[in-house]
Amino acid sequence: MSTTSYVFAKPHLLGIAGLNFPEAVSLLDRAEGYVEQSRQTDKTSNKLHGLTQINLFFEPSTRTQSSFEIAGKRLGMDVVNMAVQSSSVSKGETLIDTAMTLNAMRPDLLVVRHGASGAAELLSQKVDCAVINAGDGQHEHPTQALLDALSIRRALGSLAGLRIAICGDIAHSRVARSNVILLNLLGAEVRLCGPPTLLPSDADRWGAEVFHNMDDALNACDVVMMLRLQTERMNSAFIPSSREYFRFYGLDRTRLGKAAKGALVMHPGPMNRGVEIDSDIADDPKISLITAQVEMGVAVRMAVLDMLAEAKNKDTHE
Ligand code: CP
Repeated sequence: MSTTSYVFAKPHLLGIAGLNFPEAVSLLDRAEGYVEQSRQTDKTSNKLHGLTQINLFFEPSTRTQSSFEIAGKRLGMDVVNMAVQSSSVSKGETLIDTAMTLNAMRPDLLVVRHGASGAAELLSQKVDCAVINAGDGQHEHPTQALLDALSIRRALGSLAGLRIAICGDIAHSRVARSNVILLNLLGAEVRLCGPPTLLPSDADRWGAEVFHNMDDALNACDVVMMLRLQTERMNSAFIPSSREYFRFYGLDRTRLGKAAKGALVMHPGPMNRGVEIDSDIADDPKISLITAQVEMGVAVRMAVLDMLAEAKNKDTHE
């Protein structure tokens, strides 16, 4: 099947769960073109000129919000960043009422981040436009998983057959959940590693092998994806101390030596240097994909916005 001309059949992107192989690959293929566009001096096209995108972020973000804004602008859209802190949310307006108010202004795409799992899906049932989940609680962060897959595919050629370890605070991580689903879909073998307190009770049903010993988890891995401790989602002490945590679960050059020769390192950000990852590893361009991940974020989000706008346009004209 040709994926370049593939028309996405879904009205929203709420998660990786539910995407099939051609949908995932076609998003990655389309993003490749947007990597090239973003490397030109003139980065802007009028592909989605006339459309309106609203970014509605109820949780802090550096990478996701700014890259969605840049992505929308590079496609020629009018992009509005709702300042949630100074909006009527602070006067008690609910998520649904906020969304319905914005919906009345006839946006075409609504990008939402919220602390509650399922918030993006709930909004998608209330509004007329396409909804993109930019992270909902501990549930999913689909564009992060897509940009991670694109970064790996560009570095190593294919994901099929790769051994990939995701290490750290898995229990609170929507990034881990979306990545396990997508990496499995694309044919990789996924391992999860963390202390028992930071692994979800149903981790053995996620479709990944579970490890508590980091050296064992990294053995012969092609890619090591590190996650930060999400202290903002913890209501009690999950680790004795960050120094102790780094000793057992931090990634430094010695520990990376357990992985396959030439193994690559990833981190979705924000990083806590010296807690889950050593700067020596994070800043080494020969092994770290962290900067590439940020670049791929813009391209993947352009592809997602473009695919959903195209699907809506096709739907309207049928
Ligand atoms: N990776 C990620 O979602 O980063 P931000 O929280 O900065 O958007």
